Amino acid sequence: MKIDKLKLTNYRNLEDLEVEPNSRLNLIFGPNGSGKTNFCEAIHFVSTGDNIKGSRQRELINWRSEYALVRLGLKNDDQVVVYLKEGEGKEIKINSKSGRQSELRSLVPTHAFVPEDLYISKGPPRRRRSLLNSHLSQLSDGYGHLLSEYNAELKKKNTLLKKDEINEDFLEVLSDRLVELGARITVERADYLRDLNQYLPEIYGRFAGTEQELNLSYSEDGLVEGSEEEIAELLSDKLERNRKKELERETSVVGPHRDKFEYLLDGKNLRTFGSQGELRTAVIATYLAYLELYEKRFDELPILVLDDILSELDRDRGEAFLENLPEEPQVFMTTATRSPSFRKLSGEFTVLKIAEGGIERQ
Ligand SMILES: Nc1ncnc2c1ncn2[C@@H]1O[C@H](COP(=O)(O)OP(=O)(O)OP(=O)(O)O)[C@@H](O)[C@H]1O
Ligand SMILES: [Mg+2]
Repeated sequence: MKIDKLKLTNYRNLEDLEVEPNSRLNLIFGPNGSGKTNFCEAIHFVSTGDNIKGSRQRELINWRSEYALVRLGLKNDDQVVVYLKEGEGKEIKINSKSGRQSELRSLVPTHAFVPEDLYISKGPPRRRRSLLNSHLSQLSDGYGHLLSEYNAELKKKNTLLKKDEINEDFLEVLSDRLVELGARITVERADYLRDLNQYLPEIYGRFAGTEQELNLSYSEDGLVEGSEEEIAELLSDKLERNRKKELERETSVVGPHRDKFEYLLDGKNLRTFGSQGELRTAVIATYLAYLELYEKRFDELPILVLDDILSELDRDRGEAFLENLPEEPQVFMTTATRSPSFRKLSGEFTVLKIAEGGIERQ
């Protein structure tokens, strides 16, 4: 799917912006604070109903206004409008009829890369866990549902562990359920890592221009191999061994919600040893590997929204990224400066400049 027309009214600092983007590559420039991230966020917002930064909806409305409006025209002539009014919920219109948030994702499939994604490789395990969860929720049927079921049971167990008097039978029931769901999650994650690692070393190599091998794997103490039954048994044993600890700490310490994953570059933990550019390249390589898997699964790619993806990359790696950008999808890519890597751009593209709340072609 491609965006034919985008119109923003009072969306954050973008008070009046209208653009007919290139159906291939759109390069968006503008000084710091001009609204590049807001522009990316608006595309994400109209295609999911959620905002990237996790901030409140009121914050999306321009400070001097009481409403915000995002209008989107698609190549197939579908029209999407999301209207936000202060103190009220959002209103979604699809082809002038009232629409639901859940309809947006399939209508305008997008995938966003945000600057905070750098912390996926560098930050705490939680970051890599949520990366896998979000990829799997897109690529695997039922994973999202499985995960919410697991989280709901986990919540019950944690509430129970905090009680003064614990119903042992109920604890047992919840633990069994968590083992069963947990084993299924673990198998899905292990399968996904296997798929991902088929692409990662090659893609990383294209950036680094060296024979370094990048992998994303379960950290050493994690559960990895085995059938669902075997993993369930391992999980169950681990739970038994940590029973006292869980009661003392009044929380669940065993299970996929605690899974740890690490990037290894030539066998060394990237989080500990990687340079800034290497850490960033690892995330970008994962992103491109995910897109390969996405294309295999769905036969097409989502619209890509890449906010500041080139920063911290040296010229060679920046050029390698542009050369390796998938050819078919529509891409929105922001940068604060015109990177020297751009001289390598071939094919069709449009340069857009954001300033004073609007946008213009260069
Ligand atoms: N609700 C709002 N109303 C008006 N202005 C807002 C609102 N929310 C955010 N802003 C402003 O929008 C400006 C642009 O933010 P944005 O993050 O999009 O800039 P940017 O172009 O991505 O900058 P950088 O190059 O530093 O990443 C900020 O100065 C911010 O104060
Ligand atoms: Mg920004």
